[in-house]
Amino acid sequence: HPADPCTVVIFGASGDLTSRLVVPALYNMRRTGLLSDDFAIVGVNHGKLADATWKRNLRGALERYVGNAGAGTGKLDNDAWDWLADRMTYHAGDFDDSTTFSSLAEKLKIIERRRGTEGNVLFYLATPERFFGDIVEKLKEAGLTGDSEGGFWRRVIIEKPFGHDLASAQALNERIGKVLREDQIYRIDHFLGKETVQNILSFRFANGLFEPIWNRDRIDHVQITVAETVGVERRGSFYEQTGALRDMVPNHLFQLLAMVAMEPPTSFGAEAVRTRKAEAIEAIRPIGPEDAVRGQYGPGAVAGVLARAYREEPDVAADSVTETFVAMKLAIDTWRWSGVPFYLRTGKHMTRRTTEIAIRFKSAPFAPFRGTGMDAFGPDWLVLQIQPDEGISLQFDVKRPGPRVELAPVRMDFKYADWFRAEPNVGYETLLYDCMTGDATLFQRADMVEACWRAVQPVLDDWAQHSPADFPNYSSGSAGPASADTLLAMGGRSWRPLNANVEPVGR
Ligand code: BG6
Repeated sequence: HPADPCTVVIFGASGDLTSRLVVPALYNMRRTGLLSDDFAIVGVNHGKLADATWKRNLRGALERYVGNAGAGTGKLDNDAWDWLADRMTYHAGDFDDSTTFSSLAEKLKIIERRRGTEGNVLFYLATPERFFGDIVEKLKEAGLTGDSEGGFWRRVIIEKPFGHDLASAQALNERIGKVLREDQIYRIDHFLGKETVQNILSFRFANGLFEPIWNRDRIDHVQITVAETVGVERRGSFYEQTGALRDMVPNHLFQLLAMVAMEPPTSFGAEAVRTRKAEAIEAIRPIGPEDAVRGQYGPGAVAGVLARAYREEPDVAADSVTETFVAMKLAIDTWRWSGVPFYLRTGKHMTRRTTEIAIRFKSAPFAPFRGTGMDAFGPDWLVLQIQPDEGISLQFDVKRPGPRVELAPVRMDFKYADWFRAEPNVGYETLLYDCMTGDATLFQRADMVEACWRAVQPVLDDWAQHSPADFPNYSSGSAGPASADTLLAMGGRSWRPLNANVEPVGR
């Protein structure tokens, strides 16, 4: 079903996010029939730009996107692009200038009459965080935020980062909450646009097999890893203010954690699901500084290519203390998870790119192999592989062939690519479609965002007071600093190797 008729207004129309993700997503949506025929796009940015120039730039980016391996088609679908381009208008103006918004209101009226968009408008805030509050207030001032009952809708997508700590997130929620109803606010976390992340709930709640063992009785601990091979690229000035913890943990990693840890919802309705997720996040015990470690990459080689240290990246201070790696141990204070540690780690310039949730089951209670030298079992793991090589695998022990009883770990692998052929997507299609149809399930509610910041705030406070003395403390292309290993070793555990899911385990 195509989504509702609407106009999408993108603030930050010349930005990276717009050209790399939002417009390619809209293009894919057109190709798969997810957009209404009554549709238009308005791009807002400071700086005069002819419509034609703006479109040419976007077309160039789109060509690069479809030309990428993995994006599918290889060459641009001209019909789909022409259809979009025909509906696109550029609107020049500063985000903090009221006249930008009054003239936008006029423009929207004309577009609505021409395109039959029925007054529905999705405002997409693809701007730096400092503009979020201003834009929302100015939209209100220009009379653009009110929707009429049963008539038309006005919704706002707000990108991350949503605040930089608990206080700023609360302040932003309060500010936009004065102008918009909560059901008009769509706080985006692009991890929730990933099929494999959405699948966590289907996998858990559509199968009788795993849910009965999904608790402290059978699970020893959980490891959530988001390892990246990229560095900070051209985002040095943003990243210097942000760091790995703020950039990844209270948003992407906590979303994964919530999907794994939440109680079953009574339905898949937006409020039922979000309430269960919020409860899981609220149950995270505020993280003590002793349970968090940070790292920063030094020089090295990533996948055979020489890589420079973080401190040598553009727009990064030569003595920067910004972390590019973080690992932490979390406790979730619920009936289900009491005593089960959740270990999280994420970093840049690591050995391999992999995002996975690895669930380690408890060992069998008794070893009948005692005395054979085989009384230590290998670990049983269930691994949800989020990206790349999307899939699920189960690792367990079997008898090695031969006359003697010897155990060997093996793995059963399900790979998405073996079973399904998905339409090419950038991961924003579902999220945009959901917003256009009023389904907020995959978006963050105000209370969730605040609960996320609340959990990490003690670490942020501690790190702000104590500068790390050992930066850089891991080489580019490694698995992170030694302190991350110590964090697990204290509990008698160790991280799964970053290539554990691609190499045979039992040979
Ligand atoms: C973004 C972070 O939100 O997520 C980036 O700002 C990070 O630093 C990115 O690289 C990771 O997303 P993905 O989809 O590439 O795994």
